[in-house]
Amino acid sequence: MQFTIEINGVKSVAKRGETILTVLQRNGIKVPTLCCMAGFSPTGSCRMCIVEVDGLSTLVPACSHPVEEWMQIKTHSPRVIKARRTLVELLLANHPDDCLYCDRAGTCELQKIASELNIRERKYHPRKPSVLIDRNCSSIERDPGKCILCERCIRVCDDVIGVNAIEIIGRGSNSIIGTSYNKGLNFSACIKCGQCIMVCPTNALKEKDSTQQVIEALNNPQLHPVIQLSSTVGISIAEEYGLKPGKDLANRLSVALRKIGFMEIHDTSLGADINTLEIAAKLVEKIRNKEKMPLFTGCCPSWVYYARKFRPEFMESVTSVKSPQQIMGALIKTYMNRDSKKKVFSVAVSPCTAKKEEADQDHPLLTGEKNVDVALTTRELMKILRHFGMDLNAIEPGFSETGYGMRGSSGRLYGISGGAAESILRSFHFLMTGQELNPLKVSELRGPKGRKEYRIKIGKQSYTFVAINGLQHVKPLLDEIAAGRNDIHLVEVMTCPGGCINGGGQRYGTDEKALKSRAKAIYDAADEEMIKVAHKNPAVADIYAGRMDALQSELNLEYIPNIKPAAV
Ligand code: FES
Repeated sequence: MQFTIEINGVKSVAKRGETILTVLQRNGIKVPTLCCMAGFSPTGSCRMCIVEVDGLSTLVPACSHPVEEWMQIKTHSPRVIKARRTLVELLLANHPDDCLYCDRAGTCELQKIASELNIRERKYHPRKPSVLIDRNCSSIERDPGKCILCERCIRVCDDVIGVNAIEIIGRGSNSIIGTSYNKGLNFSACIKCGQCIMVCPTNALKEKDSTQQVIEALNNPQLHPVIQLSSTVGISIAEEYGLKPGKDLANRLSVALRKIGFMEIHDTSLGADINTLEIAAKLVEKIRNKEKMPLFTGCCPSWVYYARKFRPEFMESVTSVKSPQQIMGALIKTYMNRDSKKKVFSVAVSPCTAKKEEADQDHPLLTGEKNVDVALTTRELMKILRHFGMDLNAIEPGFSETGYGMRGSSGRLYGISGGAAESILRSFHFLMTGQELNPLKVSELRGPKGRKEYRIKIGKQSYTFVAINGLQHVKPLLDEIAAGRNDIHLVEVMTCPGGCINGGGQRYGTDEKALKSRAKAIYDAADEEMIKVAHKNPAVADIYAGRMDALQSELNLEYIPNIKPAAV
């Protein structure tokens, strides 16, 4: 039911059941918010969105207060502004004055609100004792001194990811957000997905910064710096340059990376193609041997950490095949057909914070070296490009390099929820039948649903592929399997809703529209690739045909007999 209310003296239409904030936003009136997030029910805890309603003695939070027919609302009256200023001044009392050095300078929501309210000096002085920065985790850092207790991180960790790694500790003005027993992220339930960073309004949560290490390597003449880019990177950075979400800047990025000193540029999609073949062949073998089902993918490190910490009984069903990033890392370090005799310094860029830990913890090469020396997030890559003065808007596009050999569209799909399952299904079908899947596109595994299932009939037998989109949806599935469900053959799990396109190392904030554009861009880019299936990628065939022996032994490629070069 619709009715008319008055906002700042102007009549506006409202609907029953809406909050005041929804009506304000529809009418183009902006009030500051800190604790509320799209898609979550409001908590009304920060009070930043308070407005004045004639007839009510107290100011009310617009994000949680329902709109009513009789309302006359003032959003920026002197009383409202005074109260908002006091709230921000109290937050700033305990906030470090290091904006000049802060990673979030320019993107900090608190800084922006303080500026909008024209707060230019510290009015109150700190009462809280300073708390140590939590630096013991190789993916994420936590600075409680910058926390404003908006609780967004807690809600994302609980409701979207489902691991409850962080919580409010203490009472009243002494409360802080921390981990159980306040022991630090590494000793908590945290699975390093970084979704908390995406919603943090300040710099209380951020990825462990590895940019200086890469800059030093680029300036070190003894090293041969090599970089691999996941399929989403070229698409994600466009937004950082103020371009339309979904624009693919891979061809400009390649030129910029050469300019700043990278000697080789590789595409992680090739690693994804190998990952696909290994998993598809393993699945075929398990089916033929009538082994326990399903097989779980392991390319999302946060999911692997979750299984290890919370459901260790499923760990034997998670594939042991290295992730695409680590496969490419091994390929880069072992493919010696390069002129340089310098030591290879291998950098991987993806939109993922957990990949940092994966790079640190994965089995080293036979030489004892790491497969990937440094894993960067997309945000960190942007910092490095800025450090070297690269403006991708002004750079003439070159061609998007793929390093060793070609990439396939199948591997490119790994950046999106359902993409790995679709890629594996294409090769699984080929290995089972000798025929290509037709059509190759599997719509049932695409889209935003939390759980996607696709059943395919091959001969008399049906095979079920499942894609879990957002870790909160994995628990019910694991419970079903534990209770005896046995008709599922492959499960892809992506911790971040949407997949890597919404990873914790992407541009700050959550934006549904941008996410849709990134997804479309990935599918469009995959459609344009000449090679549509991993088993037809000539670079992969080269590796399986034994022309890259060093890599075969490093990766323990077990399924060579199943992937005959003749099939390629
Ligand atoms: Fe409304 Fe925090 S945004 S109370």
